[in-house]
Amino acid sequence: MTAPLIDPFARPISYLRVSVTDRCDFRCVYCMAENMTFLPKKELLTLEELDRMCSTFVRLGVEKLRITGGEPLVRKGIMTFFEGMKRHLDSGALKELTLTTNGSQLRRFARDLVDCGVRRVNVSLDTLDATKFADITRWGRLVQVLDGIDAAQEAGLRVKINAVALKGFNEDELFTLQAWCAERDMDMTWIEVMPMGDLGNEDRLDQYWALNDLRARLAERFTLVDLAERTGGPARYVRIEETGQKIGFITPLTHNFCESCNRVRLTCTGELYMCLGQEDMADLRAPLRASADDAVLEAAIRAAIARKPKGHDFDYSRQSVAGQVSRHMSHTGG
Ligand code: GTP
Ligand code: 5AD
Ligand code: SF4
Repeated sequence: MTAPLIDPFARPISYLRVSVTDRCDFRCVYCMAENMTFLPKKELLTLEELDRMCSTFVRLGVEKLRITGGEPLVRKGIMTFFEGMKRHLDSGALKELTLTTNGSQLRRFARDLVDCGVRRVNVSLDTLDATKFADITRWGRLVQVLDGIDAAQEAGLRVKINAVALKGFNEDELFTLQAWCAERDMDMTWIEVMPMGDLGNEDRLDQYWALNDLRARLAERFTLVDLAERTGGPARYVRIEETGQKIGFITPLTHNFCESCNRVRLTCTGELYMCLGQEDMADLRAPLRASADDAVLEAAIRAAIARKPKGHDFDYSRQSVAGQVSRHMSHTGG
């Protein structure tokens, strides 16, 4: 038996998030700059290398694999990678293979994803207003995403909607978004906006909508029942008694969930970030390429996990942005 991955704070690492590309067909304002420079293709791990990397993590006890980007479905040939990962689901080593997507390519790929063993997807969608959608994503078209969500549901995928809570932007859609998700039998998760990327002239404090306030507003109209269940991600869930719908809250700012962190994230060039909110990372591409023997890679993974920090330092509580990281969210896929 291989020893499982345990970090210095006794947290077992069982969840790997893999960004398979830094590219995206959208330019969401809180995620990317409009004129991003992307990595040259030769820097990327090949699909075979991604497979070997993920398979090594699975052997070391990773049970949940989430594919992210950028937009994961714009990576050329990505279905080949998903097909490869299916063998780990079939063997029982992997409990879940899933992805976080902007939804734009789901019409094309939903069925193939199901064939590869994917059962649910998280789709990022902050507004149901076409004009606001175009503003926040800069390049996105709402109709295309809605069509993608239709395709996913037609193919039998469970869909969860992720919305970043933004003051003055989607506050007025709290109930419409929730009702729309309920109607379509989709769960939904709200996320507090994190200070990542080149904040430049943007003001995260002005955008920030604390989820305890959002929750209080929901509670004015509905009965919220706290749920103990976890999906293995950072969200804490409530059930809306009146509709049976599940609503998740991801609260890096108002309630730090780092004490139960079970995950690390791999970028498309083979960097391993042990925490979303810290700059430290370990290069796994060099050990991967150095030897065909996975023992070298395994040792590098273990050394990286041994320096996983306690948590992020994001903090807006002193009326200023603290703990900011300059890396864009698209680099690690959230
Ligand atoms: P489920 O399996 O559905 O629970 O998904 P998940 O919440 O693990 O994944 P998803 O990609 O939907 O994550 C939503 C967002 O939560 C991410 O894009 C990040 O913004 C945030 N998030 C996920 N993991 C972490 C983390 O370790 N730290 C912080 N601060 N935020 C995280
Ligand atoms: N803060 C919080 N969430 C973010 N996302 C992107 N940038 C940020 C940020 N700065 C979310 C996206 C998507 C997921 C990958 O991360 O909306 O749901
Ligand atoms: Fe693309 Fe998602 Fe970032 Fe938007 S949040 S730019 S859809 S990776």
